[in-house]
Amino acid sequence: MQYQKHQLFMEKPAYFFILLTMLSLSTTTICSFFNKATDQEALIAFKSFIISGPPEILTKNWSSNASICSWMGVSCSLNHQRITALNFSGFRFKGTISPAIGNLTFLTSLDLSYNNFTGFIPKELSLSRLELIDLSFNSLTGEIPSFGNNLKLRILNLSNNSLGGNIPYGIFNLSSIEEVRLRANNLQGGLPKDMCNGISRLSRLYLSWNSLSGQIPFDIYKCSELVDLSLSVNHFSGSLPSSIGRLNKLQTLYVGANNFQEIHDNASICREVRTWRAKLVELSIDVLSLR
Ligand SMILES: *[C@@H]1O[C@H](CO)[C@@H](O)[C@H](O)[C@H]1NC(C)=O
Ligand SMILES: *[C@@H]1O[C@H](CO)[C@@H](O)[C@H](O)[C@H]1NC(C)=O
Ligand SMILES: *[C@@H]1O[C@H](CO)[C@@H](O)[C@H](O)[C@H]1NC(C)=O
Ligand SMILES: *[C@@H]1O[C@H](CO)[C@@H](O)[C@H](O)[C@H]1NC(C)=O
Ligand SMILES: *[C@@H]1O[C@H](CO)[C@@H](O)[C@H](O)[C@H]1NC(C)=O
Ligand SMILES: *[C@@H]1O[C@H](CO)[C@@H](O)[C@H](O)[C@H]1NC(C)=O
Ligand SMILES: *[C@@H]1O[C@H](CO)[C@@H](O)[C@H](O)[C@H]1NC(C)=O
Ligand SMILES: *[C@@H]1O[C@H](CO)[C@@H](O)[C@H](O)[C@H]1NC(C)=O
Ligand SMILES: *[C@@H]1O[C@H](CO)[C@@H](O)[C@H](O)[C@H]1NC(C)=O
Repeated sequence: MQYQKHQLFMEKPAYFFILLTMLSLSTTTICSFFNKATDQEALIAFKSFIISGPPEILTKNWSSNASICSWMGVSCSLNHQRITALNFSGFRFKGTISPAIGNLTFLTSLDLSYNNFTGFIPKELSLSRLELIDLSFNSLTGEIPSFGNNLKLRILNLSNNSLGGNIPYGIFNLSSIEEVRLRANNLQGGLPKDMCNGISRLSRLYLSWNSLSGQIPFDIYKCSELVDLSLSVNHFSGSLPSSIGRLNKLQTLYVGANNFQEIHDNASICREVRTWRAKLVELSIDVLSLR
């Protein structure tokens, strides 16, 4: 017994040493690929895809001899000077979004809203640390990428662009997603029956002003955190599922300007939802305001 104990005691540090060596080797390998320099390279590539913008930003502030962390709109981590956030909202940039943005492995927040970006959303935006993507109010086209690797994404705002195709199924698999705004695009197709199986934290879903069709899935009640649901100005059909009444946190529901059957006027839909939700207090169902 005594001997065995001793042997174990001697062996453990050796294992730890080997483990530590292996860990540090792999960290070194990762660090030597994505580091401060690759961040700089990626941001310079991003800049090269901007065809016009205010010279006081693009040529003066974003000077090539200043640290990228001092560039307007860029936030870096204190320790390692890695880019953690980009906020170029309202910078009046025109151009396309460089796929090099996918090399910013420490990025948690990307706000490019209110610019004039055209072209596709790069699929490289699938970054495991990203929590917020706001590309709203641009002129982006093509399909929405599936964002398969965005395991921490909480907020996705792609409103007021010209995005087409279906809503990618992968969006309904982003387990951390809380708010999805896809309002005012050219989206087609329907909502999958199992849309709420993997997104239990979803509280705001804005799909208005698209060309979405088909029925609202009965299982929508499984998105139990929903507070705002906006479906207006689409081609949704069928009847609104009675299961909507089980959404106890729902406060606003916009359904106007669709092809819903059985509900012809404001009064009848309100009556219906009141029946579903006995203790209805604050829910407002707007069939005329098309938000
Ligand atoms: C760029 O703008 C930022 C934020 O306004 C400022 O801190 C920085 O000094 C500016 N850099 C240059 C080179 O003008
Ligand atoms: C930085 O670059 C600008 C031109 O891009 C130049 O005018 C300026 O002198 C440079 N500053 C330094 C400190 O090198
Ligand atoms: C980006 O900056 C604008 C102000 O310029 C601010 O209103 C907005 O909240 C910021 N976005 C994020 C994601 O912090
Ligand atoms: C990402 O960085 C690597 C290494 O610097 C580079 O080879 C690659 O081209 C970059 N990707 C993009 C899309 O720029
Ligand atoms: C975007 O560019 C188009 C022309 O290419 C222009 O008509 C439009 O006003 C611009 N939008 C913004 C928000 O600057
Ligand atoms: C985009 O959506 C987020 C979350 O819903 C919201 O906080 C943000 O203000 C929106 N962006 C713009 C430019 O309206
Ligand atoms: C959704 O996530 C599960 C694992 O959580 C995975 O098996 C499945 O392939 C994913 N589906 C899509 C469409 O991303
Ligand atoms: C956003 O989209 C809505 C609906 O199409 C439209 O009424 C509004 O004018 C758009 N806003 C901007 C700034 O383009
Ligand atoms: C629709 O119903 C709501 C709630 O009952 C009511 O406040 C609103 O005035 C109604 N609108 C019309 C146009 O009847």
